[in-house]
Amino acid sequence: MPFSMIIDDLAASGWSLQSSFLSNDVTRELADECRRRYAEGALAPAGVGRGEEQAVREGIRGDHIHWLEEGQAEVCDAYLALMDELRQMLNRELFLGLEEFECHFALYPPGAFYQTHLDRFRDDDSRCVSAVLYLNPNWQPADGGELRMHFADGSTRDIPPQAGDLLIFMSGDFPHEVLVTRSDRVSLTGWFRRRPVDVLAL
Ligand code: OGA
Ligand code: MN
Repeated sequence: MPFSMIIDDLAASGWSLQSSFLSNDVTRELADECRRRYAEGALAPAGVGRGEEQAVREGIRGDHIHWLEEGQAEVCDAYLALMDELRQMLNRELFLGLEEFECHFALYPPGAFYQTHLDRFRDDDSRCVSAVLYLNPNWQPADGGELRMHFADGSTRDIPPQAGDLLIFMSGDFPHEVLVTRSDRVSLTGWFRRRPVDVLAL
């Protein structure tokens, strides 16, 4: 059961890479759904920051995104249901107190990248665990677009965005970046969240 490998990896090192987490068929359906939304013009340039600080800055990230909501497509609902099972297992085994999962499709056109960042906003630490599912069949080294993880000892690891692979990591612990892609690069990027602390109530 791949869930138990994810739990073991997260407990040991804070991150986990599961190759072929999803079948080729499901992965292809998700990729088709992402491209369908892109063709419809539903994907919009992603912003950086939150609320009033939110701004589109192509110098920082060049992807286009569209959020998943229940009821949009059967294959997306199935993915959300699977991630909810994983959320419950993370809570049972690692006591993370995760309350919800949010995710969006992301498409990086050729030339796009995402500079080194942490998946936490300065004013909100509710994102606890990041989960990226890649949707690119037959990704080749010449396509670029690797996700580069930065570790505390200064070492790095480059992960190609190969269809069906799932990368999970503790959101606050690993700076990471997306290297310049040379082909359209599609993924389903999500976060397990805790209830945000209401700073005004403290
Ligand atoms: C992000 C991100 C990584 C990837 O959207 O925050 O880091 O590999 N994405 O798509
Ligand atoms: Mn990120």
